[in-house]
Amino acid sequence: MTSSADLYCVMGNPVAHSRSPAIHARFAELTGQAIAYERRLVPMDGFVQGVRDFIAEGGRGCNITVPFKIEAPQLATHCSERVRLAGAANVLTFGADGGIHADNTDGLGLVADITRNAGVSLAGRDVLLVGAGGAAAGALGPLLQAGVRHITVANRTLDKAQALVQSHSALATLQKSELIALTPQALEANFDVIINATASSLSGADVPVPAHVLRPGSLACDMMYGPAAQGFLDWARRHGATPRDGLGMLVEQAAEAFLLWRGVRPPSALVLQEMQQAA
Ligand code: ATR
Repeated sequence: MTSSADLYCVMGNPVAHSRSPAIHARFAELTGQAIAYERRLVPMDGFVQGVRDFIAEGGRGCNITVPFKIEAPQLATHCSERVRLAGAANVLTFGADGGIHADNTDGLGLVADITRNAGVSLAGRDVLLVGAGGAAAGALGPLLQAGVRHITVANRTLDKAQALVQSHSALATLQKSELIALTPQALEANFDVIINATASSLSGADVPVPAHVLRPGSLACDMMYGPAAQGFLDWARRHGATPRDGLGMLVEQAAEAFLLWRGVRPPSALVLQEMQQAA
């Protein structure tokens, strides 16, 4: 890497597993952008210092991953509307004036993967969003903005789903979308698109919604990829749905971050194809 390359990183704990360095390196190669992109492991109580150190070293921006996405907006001098809605950020951009701009591209990445890569339009569709943690919060605003007809947020802890629905109710009204919260047990309808944003698969738990939420041909997405997504994808396939893992979302959220930082949209579909072929 040349010394003129602009410095970026992904910051988290753990961070060794992150595929962001490989994705951004390939974006840079394909677009001719001179960037260096590193992994930064920061201590659980050391996020703020980690960001300050990185800025002092000349860092231009960073991706934030688990568990710092909720803490990240507190550091920012400016938060996008998406960050305000989600209550979490996955991208920081450091301005020459010392400003820190926070954004959230996770939900944009999910919507881009569903509509562009999977070729499924979200306009007028009925969507089930399973989970009400940070991952679900990042997705809800962009899903509403994609023009869905209806979203049910289903979570085993109902009050968390209700809080998410409440914080997005003005946007839902603006978009003329129906938005409700339910427990998984109360689900009766079926949906065009089902998105698993829970961490249930990490603990080896069963898929947290009944199979009757699927229609033949429903798109069933898990935000995870690799072995963690397998149980959900197998379940979806067994019940006649089209399974999709979170690799496309990962690549597309990175593409949105790259666009924010560099002003250039990378060929994300090509990079996703390369990663799928290499898997
Ligand atoms: P993240 O930031 O990745 O979304 P989180 O904020 O801890 O992580 O949220 C995890 C989500 O997965 C929550 O919706 C959680 O449900 P609760 O709100 O009821 O805790 C959900 N989840 C985790 N393990 C689960 C399981 N075994 N079954 C169903 N839902 C589960």
